[in-house]
Amino acid sequence: MSPKQRQAGQPAPPHPGYPIHNDRLLKACRRQPVDRTPVWIMRQAGRYLPAYRALRKQVSFMKLCKTPELALQATMTPLAVMDVDAAILFSDILIPVEAMGMKVVFTEKKGPQLPGAIRSEADVAKLRVPDPEETMAFVPQAIRLINAELRGRIPLLGFSGAPYTLATYMVEGETSKNFYGIKRRLFEAPKLMHALLDKLADTVTAYLNAQIAAGAHAVQLFDTWAGALSPTEYAEFAFPYTQRVIAGLRRERTPVILYVNGGSDYLERMAETGADVLSLDWRIDIGEARRRVGHKVALQGNLDPCALYGPPAAIRAQVARVLQSFGKGEGHIFNLGHGILPDIPVAHAVAMVDAVHEESARFHRGV
Ligand code: CP3
Repeated sequence: MSPKQRQAGQPAPPHPGYPIHNDRLLKACRRQPVDRTPVWIMRQAGRYLPAYRALRKQVSFMKLCKTPELALQATMTPLAVMDVDAAILFSDILIPVEAMGMKVVFTEKKGPQLPGAIRSEADVAKLRVPDPEETMAFVPQAIRLINAELRGRIPLLGFSGAPYTLATYMVEGETSKNFYGIKRRLFEAPKLMHALLDKLADTVTAYLNAQIAAGAHAVQLFDTWAGALSPTEYAEFAFPYTQRVIAGLRRERTPVILYVNGGSDYLERMAETGADVLSLDWRIDIGEARRRVGHKVALQGNLDPCALYGPPAAIRAQVARVLQSFGKGEGHIFNLGHGILPDIPVAHAVAMVDAVHEESARFHRGV
């Protein structure tokens, strides 16, 4: 049965690996009843955690990503301190970009740097659509190790950058503030950009299918920077490629979550990509998002990451406000509206996770 034929509310077939004990997140993805709202944190294995910083003292970020035993260790760091309802593979969205043949360097000060930025048809022609099992075998290996360690305690999320967001790095050569480099080329050289996005869509599809085959229980597509596009350019350069990736996933039982930072204006469009869940930034009231697209998709989010600077009592009030705004019923996964910031106290992240579990019971009928 295809996911389209499967109606919201119907159970999914079992996963071939370990049975999942805490399946709140997978149920919420399918808008099925849960006892508590599931919660995880984007960048939950990150620099705000002392255990992560200790790991990073010993090895580079790329080494962490590329060594399955170390990626396993990094994935597990938040689980030792917080009762989150999902683990997320430790990796980075730029791993497949490197596998396509581009140089990617992570620097302390400026973040990722890609010295050979794409400028011409010859640059695009040189890129390969990599076989993930050959070029990124460490990713499926890490997934198998993580699942063996989790033993079905919670589901494991895989992820990839969406084609447009990966293209921004390949064209800009680094993280950008205004994205004028790529946006200029969308207008100046649209054919070149489509050729690049075409290769990226095939790469991302194969990469996520390899993660699903290895045991990822759900996958998140980060189209982080597509929110900088006008609706017309979003429709031409981001939407069709995301839709194509999702249509190409072997995902009878694997929900897809789509995140766009600054995407609130495109929610209806995003709900047509085939994603099961839309992950919201903090700029929109989640109740409004639910009224607009809640009949089609589940929603993830959407506390402002800066809310975690407040004291635990204020964090609890903020959590309650987001839960209240979503309201009673199915289809909510709690998260931040973007990744957790490196200087957030661990106790504040823990306070958020606990508050979600404690405050959310009254929004569910129980199961
Ligand atoms: O969520 C998780 O815990 C899983 C791991 C994960 C990382 N990056 C680890 C990481 C995930 C899901 C990502 C996704 C990612 N990477 C995105 C999309 C999500 C988002 O935040 O918008 C993007 C745009 C990137 C690209 C990237 N990676 C940037 C811009 C940077 C530098 C900025 C920064 O925060 O350092 C990275 C590095 C990175 N990715 C770190 C981590 C833990 C920090 C590296 C370090 O340890 O020094």
